[in-house]
Amino acid sequence: MTARAHLSWPLLGKISQKEFLAKYWQKKPLLMKGAIHPFPEIISPEELAGMTLDKAIESRLIIQGPGKNNWQLKRGPFKASTFQKLPKKKWTFLVNGVDRFVPSVHAFLDEFSFIPFWRMDDIMISYAVDQGNVGAHVDNFDVFLVQAAGKREWMIEDKPVMQDDFIPDLPVRLLRKFKPTHRWVLEPGDILYLPPRFPHHGVAQGDRCMTISVGCRAPSVNEVINGVVTNALIQSDESSRYTDPDLKPQAPGEISADAVAKLKKTIEQALLSDDFLSEWLGRHVTDPYSDVDLKGHAESIAPGKVAATLKSAIALVRTEGSRLAYVKGKKDEIAFYVNGDRENLSGKAALLAQELANRIVVPCERITPFLGDKKCLGLLASLLSTGALVVES
Ligand code: SIN
Ligand code: CO
Repeated sequence: MTARAHLSWPLLGKISQKEFLAKYWQKKPLLMKGAIHPFPEIISPEELAGMTLDKAIESRLIIQGPGKNNWQLKRGPFKASTFQKLPKKKWTFLVNGVDRFVPSVHAFLDEFSFIPFWRMDDIMISYAVDQGNVGAHVDNFDVFLVQAAGKREWMIEDKPVMQDDFIPDLPVRLLRKFKPTHRWVLEPGDILYLPPRFPHHGVAQGDRCMTISVGCRAPSVNEVINGVVTNALIQSDESSRYTDPDLKPQAPGEISADAVAKLKKTIEQALLSDDFLSEWLGRHVTDPYSDVDLKGHAESIAPGKVAATLKSAIALVRTEGSRLAYVKGKKDEIAFYVNGDRENLSGKAALLAQELANRIVVPCERITPFLGDKKCLGLLASLLSTGALVVES
């Protein structure tokens, strides 16, 4: 079994999860010294560097040259020789979506389960040599910057900036103005939480500086409207139309307030029912990324063999890149979303599905109570057979 990191609550000995959400989440930055202590190595610099050679994985190299505003951005995949030709200082490589490829990094998401999984985007990990940095910038998402190895000085501004104002003609989007109000040196296990659009700038102090960015996802209004409308268009047909059997006498040239109200109702009925929206969101947020290959993890298993297999196992683990979520319905029913598909469940199977969706790594003792139920065995067999879950022995 790989080493696992544990975020110790209450943070800083005093902040509970409830308080974190109430006071800081999406509101203000929080430095959490010693949040994960000791910090285990969930990925080595060498393994991370190896990922930059893979053409299926998105990686970047950012080099700061001498003088002002001198930046180079190179996109992976790289050759091993790329790293031998680099200067001694001021470079960083960054790998996106590491959680979709490395089980121990995927399991790290369990430490952030005080935020719904569907609000998490991915884990990006950077490696920097002394003075390596990517410049002062803002991100559009909440981010937990976890110092995994070495030291990094973070400088931040304590107010978000809503307007983009970048230095022109650079390959990276850096802020034209940056006046830090706070600076801290982070050591392994320290975490800096930043809400969206808080300016920040992190500079490695010494070599072998690794920073894990646990980035959150917030669908843009454009993405939501586009997705919802496209889905509604697929489902609607020409026969459902605007109707006005209660039309009142009116001037023929006027578009009445009544007509506008009816139009609003027509749109509401087509797009805004709770069922329609939860179905769209459930499928959308569990839709697998295009770079994820779950079939490669699929282990065909008959329902009758599941209990025996799990008897000798440690945990059922959500495969890296696999996404599960559920929406509660009436009584004990749930809509269970598994990598873009829905299954309606009730009773014990619904409880089991919730166990599975609420953790990345589910210890087997949490599954044992369900192994006498036929529907539960069927559900587990199907999740293992499609590669949504894997057994950790
Ligand atoms: C880094 O890891 O160097 C940069 C991460 C960030 O600022 O989002
Ligand atoms: Co950033």
